[in-house]
Amino acid sequence: MKVTKAEIVISAVQPEQYPTLQVPEVALIGRSNVGKSSFINTLIHRKNLARTSSQPGKTQTLNFYLINEMMHFVDLPGYGYAKVSKSKREEWGNMIETYLTTREQLRTVFHVIDLRHPPSKNDILMYEWLCHFDIPHEVIATKQDKLPKTHVPRHAKVIREELGMPKGKHPILFSSETGLGKEEVWKVIYSACDI
Ligand code: GTP
Ligand code: MG
Repeated sequence: MKVTKAEIVISAVQPEQYPTLQVPEVALIGRSNVGKSSFINTLIHRKNLARTSSQPGKTQTLNFYLINEMMHFVDLPGYGYAKVSKSKREEWGNMIETYLTTREQLRTVFHVIDLRHPPSKNDILMYEWLCHFDIPHEVIATKQDKLPKTHVPRHAKVIREELGMPKGKHPILFSSETGLGKEEVWKVIYSACDI
């Protein structure tokens, strides 16, 4: 998509604050620091509209971005960051769960996983949770640029197998550094959002 307009609409912590504009939404979920905010910036060709950081725990609210006035990207806080207090983690967990299970205009979730490592326990739990609640989702294996090319297929296979992805499904290889996977992701968005 040629993105001509991209703006933050709101940083929400509760449903009353979600935008009322009826446009299809896609959301980003994944471990802290895995590259969710970078993923959004890469797709829309903006350097830092979704704020990124080398420190985990940067995104702490549900951040809604309106794209070309026709869809929202929703950037969610990361999970699994030990340095975030237990109460904060619970608060974020509730916030994420409420959003994912109640938002009617949510069309698909991009579940972002670091291609360099096998999925963490939390990655597997999140994957199973999305399946259990029948929430449409795609696995994104990011930071591909950080791996030697010859290792990529083996790492992708480990993710597939450890998550127990069904036959015919595979993680979408992605890199916010090189833009790898961008077109494939946009195709998923067009199809999920009917745009
Ligand atoms: P939280 O908001 O803290 O949950 O993190 P996040 O998942 O939004 O991660 P963010 O996009 O802020 O990226 C974290 C760090 O990883 C930053 O230093 C990014 O520059 C880096 N990063 C993200 N994606 C990639 C990638 O594909 N390749 C490389 N080399 N670095 C990446
Ligand atoms: Mg973030």
